[in-house]
Amino acid sequence: MTPDQVDMTVDLGGIELRNPVLTASGTFGYGTEFSPFLELESLGGFVAKSLTLEPRTGNPPPRIAEAPSGMLNAISLENVGVEAFIRERLPALSDEVTVIASVFGTEIELYGRVTERLDGVSGVAGIEVNASCPHVKAGGIEFGQDPKALAALVRTVRQSTRLPMLVKLSPNVTSIAEMARVAEAEGADGLCLINAVQALDVDVDTRRPVLANGLGGLSGPAIRPIALRMVWQAASAVDLPICGIGGIASAEDAVKFLLCGATAVQVGTANYLDPGVAGQIVTGIAEYAARHGFARIADLVGALETPQGG
Ligand SMILES: Cc1cc2nc3c(=O)[nH]c(=O)nc-3n(C[C@H](O)[C@H](O)[C@H](O)COP(=O)(O)O)c2cc1C
Repeated sequence: MTPDQVDMTVDLGGIELRNPVLTASGTFGYGTEFSPFLELESLGGFVAKSLTLEPRTGNPPPRIAEAPSGMLNAISLENVGVEAFIRERLPALSDEVTVIASVFGTEIELYGRVTERLDGVSGVAGIEVNASCPHVKAGGIEFGQDPKALAALVRTVRQSTRLPMLVKLSPNVTSIAEMARVAEAEGADGLCLINAVQALDVDVDTRRPVLANGLGGLSGPAIRPIALRMVWQAASAVDLPICGIGGIASAEDAVKFLLCGATAVQVGTANYLDPGVAGQIVTGIAEYAARHGFARIADLVGALETPQGG
């Protein structure tokens, strides 16, 4: 078998993808910024920066910092707002690009309103509910950290759209399986995990946190084994398709997520190091599948051989 004979298509909760590689919200702008570096049409799709009802400027700097094998960020959902996204950003993309819109709100009702606005808009293939920004708090917690708050959030968004709805879970919880079941019970079509891991770093000279916000989210290869563990646990807990996220920088990394039960993956922080990397990951996955005799990428999903009791 040659790589071009591999069936790369996957179904992510009702979103038909030409291959399982997407790019992650907040790390790929609104798509067009990356078109000098790769053909957007060659990706399975991309998740746009999380949208709020009104535009947001985000936190003051410093709001990103290097960390061992990753980065810390506390951008805090800087975005153009849902209206400008629909009016200016979406029309700049070809019809061939699969776009998933990510929604966010500081209150549950606001999530619903952003979602309603996107419902039925041509060019939006699905909704990703950002239930998990680790440095924007409502009432002191992430929505995604409390099962009751998560249930109310998913229910509200579910009532606001007929589009496929993916719920992006927080890693900052005790039981990812419990949160996955909550999202499934409230009508999610798929799950995305993980968002950044809540983190802190310190400048010893100033004796202050390195980020102006104090806490931030850790992303990049540093979190990959945590993400793999959580994807595997979530995949064991629910029947929903899962999009694996966390430190993916190569085709091999992506294959690990598929084996742990992810139907598709998202590439995040790695886009900053190499803006064309997601395209290379598509090619590399096809090569892996051909080399190992998998005619369909879907056959790799959950194919991890686990030790007994593992
Ligand atoms: C600078 C930056 C901005 C981000 N903004 C968003 C966002 O707007 N919405 C969201 O759901 N996730 C956001 N994320 C989280 C990523 O989508 C992803 O879940 C996380 O970074 C883990 O993947 P990675 O290790 O491949 O980066 C952001 C991450 C980074 C690094």
